[in-house]
Amino acid sequence: MTISTATDADLAALFQFFQEEFKGFINRKYPDNHRVHEAIRYALNGPGKKIRPLLCLSSAIAVGGRPEQALIPAIAVEMLHTYSLVHDDLPAMDNDDMRRGRPTVHVAFDEAIAILVGDALQTDAISLLADTATAEWIPKAEAIPAKGALAIIAELGRAAGGHGMVLGQAIDMEWTGKTAGQLAELDRLHQLKTGVLLGASCAVGALSCKDSTPEDINRLRSFGEAIGLAFQIRDDIIDSFAQTGKTANKDANSGKFTYLSLMGADAAMVRARQLTENSLDNLPNTSSYALLRKIAINLMDRTG
Ligand code: IPE
Ligand code: IPE
Ligand code: MG
Ligand code: MG
Ligand code: MG
Repeated sequence: MTISTATDADLAALFQFFQEEFKGFINRKYPDNHRVHEAIRYALNGPGKKIRPLLCLSSAIAVGGRPEQALIPAIAVEMLHTYSLVHDDLPAMDNDDMRRGRPTVHVAFDEAIAILVGDALQTDAISLLADTATAEWIPKAEAIPAKGALAIIAELGRAAGGHGMVLGQAIDMEWTGKTAGQLAELDRLHQLKTGVLLGASCAVGALSCKDSTPEDINRLRSFGEAIGLAFQIRDDIIDSFAQTGKTANKDANSGKFTYLSLMGADAAMVRARQLTENSLDNLPNTSSYALLRKIAINLMDRTG
């Protein structure tokens, strides 16, 4: 049986499409000279991999839609993710001074501004989904049907909020500096802090397309969560050696509870690959899912 996957060029084209629309959006939405807007532009313009928007747009394609239909949720997801990074780097959390190859927002600006950038990105992401003026900022985006917008807001709120990413971040902080716990606890922590937002990124891509079914949405959410866990395992592994644009070996030096600290790089990588393979087995073997397959495969080999 031939399983269809996309090429690196296909993925690069989707990245390019998103990148151009996102840059235009940032400049139209935050044109002011106020320091907080400068800091928002600084945070959003950092050279991130755009994994979550790519998952969102590819999920729309998977269910028979077009990227333009999922562009607004893709931007909202990247804003939520960027907020999470700005706050993750704060002195009270991971206390990191490098992100995406540049000083973190609280270093380049100051701590109060970094907190406010996170607050603004979070609320602006949600209002973007409900705001009828969105077309002014993102001309290529297609409006989301009202029912879809509500479901998308609910999905993202669940994933990012107090029972999702925030809970994961809180558990991550609790474990920092303690003797390692059990695998099940680490899985839960990683699933919450990272997996759920990748799952929601896929789900909201499908929710943007009116012909998607509840089965499509559930399948895509589960896929995103599984590759999200694998993605965080890979993040733990490469923290120790790769050029990630972040401080090298930060997790070990901070006493973080990670896959690397629990089982070592080789066993952690076996687990990440297993999760990825299982998640690919659960996708329909049709060409519309080819981009999602390619993203999952590429994430396992990434070194940055
Ligand atoms: C970093 O996310 C935080 C994690 C959840 C591991 P990414 O590795 O997607 O960060 P960017 O957006 O590419 O900088
Ligand atoms: C961060 O995990 C997860 C979120 C931001 C929600 P990490 O703390 O491992 O991310 P990096 O390594 O700083 O990017
Ligand atoms: Mg962290
Ligand atoms: Mg961190
Ligand atoms: Mg990390």
